[in-house]
Amino acid sequence: MKIVIADKSHSIYADIICETITEAAQVRGTGIAKRKPEYIITKMQNRNAVIALDGNKFAGFCYIEAWSHGKFVANSGLIVHPDYRNQGLAKKIKKVIFEHSRSKFPNSKVFSITTGLAVMKMNSDLGYKPVTFSELTDDQSFWKGCQTCKNFDVLTRTEQKMCLCTGMLYDPSKTRENKKQEHNYDKKVWTRLKNIKQSMFLKKDKK
Ligand SMILES: CC(C)(COP(=O)(O)OP(=O)(O)OC[C@H]1O[C@@H](n2cnc3c(N)ncnc32)[C@H](O)[C@@H]1OP(=O)(O)O)[C@@H](O)C(=O)NCCC(=O)NCCS
Repeated sequence: MKIVIADKSHSIYADIICETITEAAQVRGTGIAKRKPEYIITKMQNRNAVIALDGNKFAGFCYIEAWSHGKFVANSGLIVHPDYRNQGLAKKIKKVIFEHSRSKFPNSKVFSITTGLAVMKMNSDLGYKPVTFSELTDDQSFWKGCQTCKNFDVLTRTEQKMCLCTGMLYDPSKTRENKKQEHNYDKKVWTRLKNIKQSMFLKKDKK
C-alpha cells in the first residue's frame, strides 16, 4: 500500500472516489458532503490531497481545503474503500494529510466537523480539541458545502450555531502552549454527545 500526495496523474481515480463517497453517505445515512469529480481533480492538481493505492487499486483519499484566506484549513472527504476498512488505513491517511497541511499551511488552524466516531478519535489523537462552531471559520463558502448533507435543515434552523456534527480544532499556538495537558479519547463521552444531539435536533421521522 502506498500513501502519497496526489497530483494530476491520479485524476483517473476521481470517479471511483466520488462513487465511494456517495455509497458511504447512503449507508451511513448522516452527513457526508458529496463532491463532484472535477472538484477532486482540482484538489489533486493543486497537491492538496492524499491518495492511498494498493497497486493500481484505489484504497483511500482525503483532501485539504483552505478557508478565511488561509486562516483555517480542513482535512475533508476522508474515505476508505470498503475492501480496505478496519486495517488502520484511515489513521495513516489522516496522519499524512495532517502533516502535509501543517507544512503547507503552518500558521493555519486545522479544523474538522464530523459525526463519525472514527474521525473524532483520529482527530483527538492528532491533538484536535472539541469546540463550538463559533470557533471555526465563518467563511460562507465552507458552510455552503453542507448543503448536500441531509441534516442541512438543522444547521439552518440553528443559524449555523450547531448541528449534528461536532466541531474540532487544532490550534497550533494553543497546542504548543498546552502540550503537557493531554486528554484521552473517551468513546462513551462522544457516543453520548452524539445521541444527545440526535434527540435534540432530529425530527422523529429522521431517526
Ligand atoms: C470512517 C472510515 C474512514 C474509517 O476507515 P478505516 O480505515 O476503517 O479506519 P481505521 O482502521 O484507520 O481506524 C481508525 C480508528 O477509528 C476506529 N474506527 C474505525 N471505524 C469505526 C467506527 N465505525 N466507529 C467507531 N470507531 C471506528 C478504529 O477502531 C481505529 O481506532 P484505534 O486507533 O483505537 O484502533 C471508513 O469507515 C469510511 O471510509 N467510512 C465512510 C466515509 C466516512 O464516514 N468518512 C468520514 C467522514 S466524516
